Amino acid sequence: MAIQPITKMGTPTLLEPSKPVDNVQLNKLEQLIQDLADTQQHHGGAGIAAPQIGVNLRVILFGFDVCERYPERKPISVTVLINPEFEPLSDEQELGWEGCLSVPGIRGAVNRYKKIRYWGQTPSGEKITREVENFHARVVQHEIDHLNGVLFVHRIANNNLFGFEEVLAKHHSSISGVIR
Ligand code: NI
Repeated sequence: MAIQPITKMGTPTLLEPSKPVDNVQLNKLEQLIQDLADTQQHHGGAGIAAPQIGVNLRVILFGFDVCERYPERKPISVTVLINPEFEPLSDEQELGWEGCLSVPGIRGAVNRYKKIRYWGQTPSGEKITREVENFHARVVQHEIDHLNGVLFVHRIANNNLFGFEEVLAKHHSSISGVIR
């Protein structure tokens, strides 16, 4: 296990765009990927991006069987993506609660595209492309934002739906679901 300290909001590197991984670096990512997996698992997160453990490279990891932080969410197969990108498949957006390991104890409502296509390279060099929707689409958009120096707090749609997790939980029936 190599659980790494989480880089928290306020750290300038979280606001910087991360660098693409080139072919030389691709073969040296094993430790980084293991660290991302161990750190995400330790915190029960839905996903994690390399800048969150202090590495400004375009690598994300997401997926879980059961997510501690979002217990009502359906499983997403654990995926590592290098140089990931996405495009929306329609203009439709959905408002849902988000949190972030870099912003502990806070949740807020963020609009995300409901259906997206995303693609990237796996650690073995294979290219994958998927079309997904709902929470899976939300997680990927959140993680790719990290690679562009964007945190969910920058995208809060309504400041009345933003606050401390434990306080919000007293006033909203769910703070991990979609807001209707
Ligand atoms: Ni995050």
